[in-house]
Amino acid sequence: MLQNAAKKYRPFPPVNLPDRRWPSRTLTHAPIWCSVDLRDGNQALAMPMNVAQKLELFRTLVNCGFKEIEVGFPSASNTEFAFNRRLIEDRLIPDDVTIQVLVQAREDLIERTFESLVGAKKVIIHLYNSTSPAQRRVVFGKSKEEIVEIARRGAQWIQDRVPRLTAGGTDVRLQYSPESFSGTEVEFAKEISEAVMDVWQPTPARKMILNLPDTVEVATPNLYADQIEWMIRNIRNRDSLIISLHTHNDRGTGVAATEMGLLAGADRVEGTLFGNGERTGNLDVVTVALNLYMHGIDPRLNFSDLGAVREVYERCTGMTVPPRQPYAGELVFTAFSGSHQDAIKKGLVEWGLGGCAHWDVPYLAIDPADLGREYREVIRVNSQSGKGGVAYLLESEFGIELPKDMQREFGPLANDRVDALGREVKGEELRAMFWSEYVERQLPWALLHFHADGVNGVFRCRATVHRAGQELPLNGEGNGPIAAFVNGLVLAGVPRFEVGYYKEHALGSGDGAAAIAYIQLKLADGRTRWGAGVDTNIEHASIRAVLSALNRSGL
Ligand code: KIV
Ligand code: ZN
Repeated sequence: MLQNAAKKYRPFPPVNLPDRRWPSRTLTHAPIWCSVDLRDGNQALAMPMNVAQKLELFRTLVNCGFKEIEVGFPSASNTEFAFNRRLIEDRLIPDDVTIQVLVQAREDLIERTFESLVGAKKVIIHLYNSTSPAQRRVVFGKSKEEIVEIARRGAQWIQDRVPRLTAGGTDVRLQYSPESFSGTEVEFAKEISEAVMDVWQPTPARKMILNLPDTVEVATPNLYADQIEWMIRNIRNRDSLIISLHTHNDRGTGVAATEMGLLAGADRVEGTLFGNGERTGNLDVVTVALNLYMHGIDPRLNFSDLGAVREVYERCTGMTVPPRQPYAGELVFTAFSGSHQDAIKKGLVEWGLGGCAHWDVPYLAIDPADLGREYREVIRVNSQSGKGGVAYLLESEFGIELPKDMQREFGPLANDRVDALGREVKGEELRAMFWSEYVERQLPWALLHFHADGVNGVFRCRATVHRAGQELPLNGEGNGPIAAFVNGLVLAGVPRFEVGYYKEHALGSGDGAAAIAYIQLKLADGRTRWGAGVDTNIEHASIRAVLSALNRSGL
């Protein structure tokens, strides 16, 4: 990189709009959406989609609720042409969906495009030519007047052919894009757009779409918004236009540019699922739609099963959705950090109680369940995680409800083991750690037999235990079976200890379901130790828990 970037690069010239209004507005409703997955997205793929893949993605887009879908560039290749014919001839386009096709301002290409549309119910014909100073100078070597002439002629060739389609019953709408709009002087963008309007003569009842692309993102998103507001305030016959945004993501702010462009007054948004498209991609429509949704605005697109949409997208395009992609990435609803896990857990409990009017769970901007994601993905455990995450997985996956104090004991033990593994661990592995640490401890103490009877609140027990391989009979008395057993141990010579805490619950349901008991022993030297026992007999589970704690205490 250069020491002095200014030697090679220059700042972007802002639009003169001192009384800009968009910054003090808020978004209140969804725009008209147009998916350009099958055209802009497709043309950016190393291996463009074949007809079958385009069809599958088309169906998915329809299911998501897109009513306008740019299906291709039919004059560009036989596949693109064949795809249009397949959609139309096999009647695969729902009545409320309009297909859009892109074409350059060349008569032969326009002719072929019209041929591809015969028999369609509703179409948008999208004409574009490039308008920025760099395009005019480098690519076309043409003056402004000549560039306007290209647009005017293209518009006329289209206009001449529209009656052919309408005579066959097709509803035809027209769209013009001054390509590279955001790199174009706004005055010139207005001039060329109005030249096209002169040919197409849009009216408030029959609007044309004026698409203002951020073909290459060259400035901060507020400057794009200024350009859009400037156009909206200065262009002739605004009420005969649908102002459309089409952003790319070269500076990583395609979403912001679109949102600010909407604040500036645009009506429509073009983009792709997960932002597939040329270079850094097109606008990610999923993100903009769900950003609206998380503010309580109906996005008029449905991503209730975003995982399924992602799966089709990945299969058809061969692209992958990165793990941190907003809303759709594998890790975006996952917390590894202990403090985040703790906060999320508490937030989900509060939400589950049903008293909150609106979603306000820390660290989760949106309820993952609304997108078909599961809460179990939210908390995942690695060495960064704390006791809260460990406890959450044990409870949510296996119904193991560790008492708070026991979480404080087991959390660090589990964390040390996870740290040594140096990777994420699954709930199953945590359960195995818990089992080996508590439930499966059989040395030196193991239970062979236990029986207790109570009369008038006094319990007597007879038990046989193994102590380091030797059988030891125990007899004791107390105000419950556990107290009687503890008394039997003390009578057999075990140093005196007390039960500090006890809890039990069923693990699953049904007659054969096991119970789990947790017990905390307070030892004479002031230490505390937890134990856990599992048995189909709840009394036996608690006695096993006592022995588990004894085994862990070294007595
Ligand atoms: O990015 C762009 O400018 C385009 C146009 C053809 C609309 O894709
Ligand atoms: Zn584009």
